[in-house]
Amino acid sequence: MPKVVYVDATGGERVIDASVGESVMRAAVRSGVPGIIGECGGCVSCGTCHVWVRDEHLGEVGEVGDMEDDLLDLAVGDRRTGSRLSCQITMTAELDGLIVDVPEEQVV
Ligand code: FES
Repeated sequence: MPKVVYVDATGGERVIDASVGESVMRAAVRSGVPGIIGECGGCVSCGTCHVWVRDEHLGEVGEVGDMEDDLLDLAVGDRRTGSRLSCQITMTAELDGLIVDVPEEQVV
């Protein structure tokens, strides 16, 4: 199973086994990762799954979609180069070891 590493604002890491085909949001929500809420269930309408993908993985996670792009402007936490909605990143075997940072503002 490919692993996703979720890093909080203090540098704390949560390493989660994701299934191939599962979104980075789903893997976080079912594992209780703080700060990944996924309120809309992945239909690109809430923005509560915002993460910052680390630079070394930016070429691996695909392009930002049009709806995702619009919603990222409204998400909490700064919009940065690596900003993505984690519901729009689907895990593959090749993404094993993906590292994402979770915005502190999103932790409730
Ligand atoms: Fe709502 Fe990603 S879960 S936009």
